[in-house]
Amino acid sequence: MQRVCVIGASGKLGQYMVRHALDLGYEVVGVCRERSVGKLAALADRITIVPGATNDREVIQKAVAGCDGVLTVLVPWGVRQYSSGTAQAVLDHADPGARLVFSCGWHITRDGKDTYSWKFRAALRVAAWLGRLVRAVEIDDQVEACRRIFASDRRWTVVRGSDLEEGESQGLPVWSHHVDDPVLASNLTRRVDFALFMVAALTDDTLVHEAPAIVGRLSPSALAHAGDGRSPGAGLADGPASPRTRRPR
Ligand SMILES: NC(=O)c1ccc[n+]([C@@H]2O[C@H](COP(=O)([O-])OP(=O)(O)OC[C@H]3O[C@@H](n4cnc5c(N)ncnc54)[C@H](OP(=O)(O)O)[C@@H]3O)[C@@H](O)[C@H]2O)c1
Repeated sequence: MQRVCVIGASGKLGQYMVRHALDLGYEVVGVCRERSVGKLAALADRITIVPGATNDREVIQKAVAGCDGVLTVLVPWGVRQYSSGTAQAVLDHADPGARLVFSCGWHITRDGKDTYSWKFRAALRVAAWLGRLVRAVEIDDQVEACRRIFASDRRWTVVRGSDLEEGESQGLPVWSHHVDDPVLASNLTRRVDFALFMVAALTDDTLVHEAPAIVGRLSPSALAHAGDGRSPGAGLADGPASPRTRRPR
């Protein structure tokens, strides 16, 4: 991994990813909306910034050229198929063989085997309805974006974030295949560590074609399973998750 593109670099997750990638010595290209370039001022002399909408195919084509890895923040803003347009542009234009890592939330399911609480489902339905009503958010389009990624034969990973909080890093999050696996019960990850997982996934081939759901490694549910054995994602999340939390796939 030498050259990495961060799509959505000016957001909170994006800025953490840029910093982690720089810490690893990667050359970084960041894509963000023109109006947000100023948010990257502190990093501007260390990265190449390509201003533009993340669903603009020309912008993405230019930004991902020559990149070994692409980290994409998938966001469902607006009602212009922003997420699916972004994902499609990355899938179409990234170099052959590039590692593609996308972010999303627990509401995305890869195999339909995630079991959600009624509270989670109700909150999601209200958010989707309200978002559509005010034409600000299109959660269904983030689902469509992930459907396209899952159907692709590119070397992708979709990282499904729990609820997020700010704070000092606790280290690499723990992951499991389904959001209702007991190790994930705490449903809380530090945003800085979400970014750490995304960047680490670039060089972990065991995560190719996986959709890990993550939780903070010092969260109570992760600690409760500490020492039980290796995590389902043993290569990357060598942390506390137990094989007993893993379901047949
Ligand atoms: N927030 C959570 O609790 C949560 C939980 C689980 C998973 N996630 C996932 O984590 C990732 C990051 O989410 P985040 O909430 O933490 O936000 P974030 O990192 O601050 O990123 C927000 C991104 O959306 C862009 N954006 C904001 N308004 C926009 C608009 N109107 N049109 C186009 N782009 C717009 C921002 O770009 P600018 O800098 O240009 O504004 C930024 O790149 C997402 O993939 C999300 O699904 C979030």
